[in-house]
Amino acid sequence: MRYTILPILLLAFTSCRNDSSNTATSQVDTASYLYMGDSIATQAQKILLENVLTAIQLHGEVGAVDFCNEKALPITQQTAAVYQASITRLSDKNRNPANAITSEMDMAAWEKLQGLMTEGGASKKHFIAQENDGVYYYKAIMLGAPTCLSCHGEKGKDIAAETWAQLQMKYPQDKAYNYRLGQLRGMWKIKLPATPEKQG
Ligand code: HEC
Repeated sequence: MRYTILPILLLAFTSCRNDSSNTATSQVDTASYLYMGDSIATQAQKILLENVLTAIQLHGEVGAVDFCNEKALPITQQTAAVYQASITRLSDKNRNPANAITSEMDMAAWEKLQGLMTEGGASKKHFIAQENDGVYYYKAIMLGAPTCLSCHGEKGKDIAAETWAQLQMKYPQDKAYNYRLGQLRGMWKIKLPATPEKQG
């Protein structure tokens, strides 16, 4: 539902623009991009969480590891297709090698989010990066729920032995454990769709 409204909202904002160097207008742009990115990240997070909780209920934690292994990336890509965005989850302590932080742009974004984390307060830990090839949205992924600990928490304490064995089998280079609640676990990197105006 919401994604049909978003482009219209964005169009409504950007159609006010008469001069792209106008700072007041670019603030409106930033606000609408933040809104759009946040909506996409929230939706993708919701779908992933629902799926992992269902997988745990149906197959237990070990089965849910298999589920994440096979489905986390495709599910994220499905959400991306719906929004015509490109969505990835990256981390400095990644589990899937595909989710490593490698580019300079992503390293800078990660540092910026780490800085935002120390600021405290209830404000959202996210921002927009304008690049030559488009507009990117970055958002902190917190280790926000106790459920996360059963696969990302302390080895030998939060993570059950069988779950650990399964994780090791699927991800021999796993770095995504020994987290505590409230820590920065990773980040969303979303390349936002071009607005209709920009496409034309
Ligand atoms: C059933 C075990 C399990 C649970 C519970 C779980 N994860 Fe994961 N998580 C995984 C697996 C497996 C991967 C690797 C997925 C892949 O191969 O793409 C992963 C990957 C991630 C990534 C991508 C970066 C990386 O390390 O590859 C983030 C971010 C993440 N999880 C955050 C969370 C958060 C936040 C929670 C709690 C809401 C959570 N996870 C709960 C197993 C789990």
